[in-house]
Amino acid sequence: MSKIVVLLGSMRRHGNTALLTSAFAKGAHESNNNITVISVADYTVIPCTGCNACRKRENNNCVIADDMQKILPVLIEADIIVIASPVYFYGLSARLKAIIDRLHQPARSAMKVKKLGLLLVAADTLPAVFDPIVLQYHLILDYFHLKSIGEVLAYGVEAIGDIHDKPVLDEAYLLGKEIR
Ligand SMILES: Cc1cc2nc3c(=O)[nH]c(=O)nc-3n(C[C@H](O)[C@H](O)[C@H](O)COP(=O)(O)O)c2cc1C
Repeated sequence: MSKIVVLLGSMRRHGNTALLTSAFAKGAHESNNNITVISVADYTVIPCTGCNACRKRENNNCVIADDMQKILPVLIEADIIVIASPVYFYGLSARLKAIIDRLHQPARSAMKVKKLGLLLVAADTLPAVFDPIVLQYHLILDYFHLKSIGEVLAYGVEAIGDIHDKPVLDEAYLLGKEIR
C-alpha cells in the first residue's frame, strides 16, 4: 500500500483534470492504496517570494501564513506525489506551480516521496503541447533522484467534460491500479 497525494491544479471542480484524476484515484483505491487529492480549488497558496527567510529562521518555517501550512504535512507523508494539471500557456497552472514553488524550503528534506506521476490535459490536438512540462518533470525526477510511476497526457480536450469516453481515462485508471 502506498500513500499517494494528487495535486489537482484546475479551478474547474468537474473539469477534465478532475475527471482524469478521478479515474486514476479509482484504480489506485481498488489496489488498496491510500489516496488523497489536494485541489487548488480548496486552498489558497501565495507564490514563493524568494525571501529565503525560512533558511534563517530558527524553526525554518515559511513566513507566509496561508494554506500551505495545511498542505505541507500531507505532502511530507506521501510516498508518491502525482501532479495533475491543465496546460496553461504550455506550462502548469499557476495555482499548482505556486504550491510546488513553496516546497523551496528546508522542510522539504523531511519528505518521504520516492516517486512522482504526471496527469495533464490540454485543448491542443498536437501532443507536443506537453513537451515543456514533461521536460520539467524529468529534470525534477533527476534532480531529486525520484522514479516516475508514469505519465498520462490527454490532448484535444477543452470544454468541461470533453475527456468523457476518451481512452486516456482507462490509461489513468490502469496507472492507478498498477500501484502497490
Ligand atoms: C489560462 C488558460 C491557458 C491555457 N493554455 C493552453 C495552452 O497553452 N495549450 C492548450 O492546449 N490548452 C490551453 N488551455 C486550455 C486548457 O488546457 C483545457 O481547456 C483543459 O481541458 C482545461 O482543463 P480543466 O477542465 O481541468 O480545467 C488553456 C486554458 C486556460 C484557462
